[in-house]
Amino acid sequence: MKELQVSASKKYNVKIDSGILSGLGQEAALVTSGRVAAVISDDTVLNLYGARAIASLNRSGFQVCSFSFPHGEASKNGTTYLALLNFLAEHHLSRSDLIVALGGGVTGDLAGFAAATYLRGIAYIQIPTTLLAMVDSSVGGKTAIDLPAGKNLAGAFYQPSLVLCDLSLLDTLPSAVFLAGSAEVIKYAVLADPEFFSRLLSTPIQAQTEEVVARCVAIKSQIVMHDEFDKGRRQLLNLGHTIGHGVELASHYQITHGLAVSIGMAMIARAAQAFGFCSAETTQRILDILHQYHLPTGTTLPKEALLSGMCNDKKRLDDRITLVVPREIGTCVLHSISMKELPSWLEAGWKEDRSWI
Ligand code: NAD
Ligand code: GLY
Repeated sequence: MKELQVSASKKYNVKIDSGILSGLGQEAALVTSGRVAAVISDDTVLNLYGARAIASLNRSGFQVCSFSFPHGEASKNGTTYLALLNFLAEHHLSRSDLIVALGGGVTGDLAGFAAATYLRGIAYIQIPTTLLAMVDSSVGGKTAIDLPAGKNLAGAFYQPSLVLCDLSLLDTLPSAVFLAGSAEVIKYAVLADPEFFSRLLSTPIQAQTEEVVARCVAIKSQIVMHDEFDKGRRQLLNLGHTIGHGVELASHYQITHGLAVSIGMAMIARAAQAFGFCSAETTQRILDILHQYHLPTGTTLPKEALLSGMCNDKKRLDDRITLVVPREIGTCVLHSISMKELPSWLEAGWKEDRSWI
């Protein structure tokens, strides 16, 4: 078992081990005085793990209700969000009760936003069930839903009370979903840790999941501790995301978040070289590790569609947008450009990749 503490506006623990879902009830009783818990999951995850989560909560005296929605990014919207709020109200959850977000990043973002806003905020526990959610989305308190105009356009910063990463839940994860999570892992190595980058090259993530999750959470919690509300340093976590969000939107979410981040990282690495931010060697090392993990480094989506998705990015401030640009492995910088400069960055990073059609 590895245990880390995140110290933000709320202090909470992230526990990482195999089999800890069965201890959910006992853990929940330590973070809430409430007796009612709502388990929120997509349909796939509820079928796989809902009964185990509910049984554990029942054993610790919780009365449990569960809400599920069709899996996938398309559900992370206003309709599901409102249905979830109504569900919580119909089941009379009070301010002292609890939400359990059991699932990937979609569930965590949606349930977290409901927790942030229902009765102006009730406690929630994150139980991430994808690699991406374990290494990134379950920690740090960013919650959101998508709007038709773009990704994560409505949301709140709202920290969970506890994060339980049960590594055994990854056993049922389809390999394509695991792969998408690898892109976020590589993101952390490129951002902050050359040694971790080397370890990812020499040993596959699957062979070191506990260490990988713990390292990513440690890096993220350090960043969140210093900049919980994304005013500065936390924006570094958006490496690959500005172009990535454009890719997600332009593909109508057919290209999933992790894969879009991979494409975004590859494009920004090429552009960084073209604009003199990093050496050709650094760019090549980023492309090589993405290739080693069979991740995409380009797309066939029209550039105009990507640009229009990027213009709706929530990170845009008036006429400017901040890019996260690699300098060397382990070091990236924030670089603010005007929206007029964006097409030249996209052009410089562009590469068609037909292998992912
Ligand atoms: P997801 O939640 O849609 O999960 C991917 C798929 O895997 C789904 O079909 C789900 O049913 C299935 N699944 C999940 N766990 C499973 C398991 N253990 N066994 C079998 N199937 C399982 O997607 P994701 O990739 O986890 O998350 C992507 C989302 O996370 C995006 O919406 C992205 O914007 C968000 N995100 C948020 C943050 C943040 O800081 N809040 C950070 C990164 C990404
Ligand atoms: N995943 C980006 C962040 O949490 O800031």
